Amino acid sequence: MASIKFIPCSLLALVVLFSAADGQLRPDFYAATCTNLASIVRGAMVTAVSAERRMGASVLRLHFHDCFVQGCDGSVLLNDLPPFVGEKSAANNLNSLRGFDVIDGIKASVEAACPGVVSCADILALAARDGTVLLGGPTWAVPLGRRDSTNASFNLASVDLPAPSANVSDLIAAFGRKGFTPREMAALSGAHTVGFAQCRSFRERLYKDGSVDPVFADKLKANCPASGPAGDSFLEPLDVLTASVFDNNYYHNLAVRRGLLHSDQEMYSGTGTEYLAGVVNQYRGSSTLFFAEFAAAMVKMGSIDPLTGAAGQVRAKCRFVNH
Ligand code: HEM
Ligand SMILES: *[C@@H]1O[C@H](CO)[C@@H](O)[C@H](O)[C@H]1NC(C)=O
Ligand SMILES: *[C@@H]1O[C@H](CO)[C@@H](O)[C@H](O)[C@H]1NC(C)=O
Repeated sequence: MASIKFIPCSLLALVVLFSAADGQLRPDFYAATCTNLASIVRGAMVTAVSAERRMGASVLRLHFHDCFVQGCDGSVLLNDLPPFVGEKSAANNLNSLRGFDVIDGIKASVEAACPGVVSCADILALAARDGTVLLGGPTWAVPLGRRDSTNASFNLASVDLPAPSANVSDLIAAFGRKGFTPREMAALSGAHTVGFAQCRSFRERLYKDGSVDPVFADKLKANCPASGPAGDSFLEPLDVLTASVFDNNYYHNLAVRRGLLHSDQEMYSGTGTEYLAGVVNQYRGSSTLFFAEFAAAMVKMGSIDPLTGAAGQVRAKCRFVNH
């Protein structure tokens, strides 16, 4: 870092110029065109998270589901418009994803301040960062300049998003397809230190998993009976210790077999996971390390296949393609 200050200004300017021409994302993308963007998004997220802490988690998840399915292009936000079926109806998202109203509200405020300039995909990336920070997590500079898709993919939402029943090889493969190392996957999964899951997402784990703490499982069985639809949508915190605080307790839970999802526990207890279990132990021992690696992985996740330059569009409303 120290060496950076010796690089002549002209060279730095050149670097900035090149990265822009390259279609790269950059944190100051809207510096001239939407000066108040960051404060508008942050203000709206403060209101949303004060009203309901869980919203910080819900918006973070929305960004993940956007980025893993045809890139961070706001595709997850598009409504079904028959015969078009979008990502919202896919099994991983239906009756589960939340936060769409919050994003709509932020978009309306941003459009009022800077009409037609800021994409829904960028608003979502900023809101996910702010949600993380408001729950006590790390911050990072959000690279910007994404544009919005004109379509979405119901099929890819089923293919590219891992299921809670996934084993560790499935998970490593799913994250590998998006360019992540197993270590980065372990860091990103730490997002499950906040928010909730429904019984239908962890039922099998309570009744069939060998890798679950029986005391923990028995307690959860009370509201999540062995077969549905009874209890299907009953909510439990992904982090049994501190559901509304972004900390490293997720990893503490894994070490005592109290991960809520089968997929969570697989990172510690799955077959051949000595390496990943070691990473979990490192994050468990140092929230500073976890925060740093989570933030870096979020920047990387936010950079998956963005539409830039003249590709795509800036949607006027996040739920609909412009006419
Ligand atoms: C490792 C693979 C992953 C799997 C299998 C997975 C699966 C799930 C499932 C099943 C739920 C609960 C859904 C429900 O029951 O309605 C959930 C919630 C959540 N996920 Fe993941 N997830 C994964 C990775 C991630 C990543 C990488 C992030 C973000 C960086 C993330 C953020 C969240 C958040 C914050 C929630 C809580 C949302 C809320 O309370 O509204 N997840 N995830
Ligand atoms: C969405 O649009 C992109 C870019 O035009 C295209 O490559 C992709 O195949 C389209 N996806 C679907 C599901 O139509
Ligand atoms: C993981 O699950 C997949 C199916 O999702 C299965 O094909 C594979 O054999 C499993 N791997 C291990 C190591 O259990």
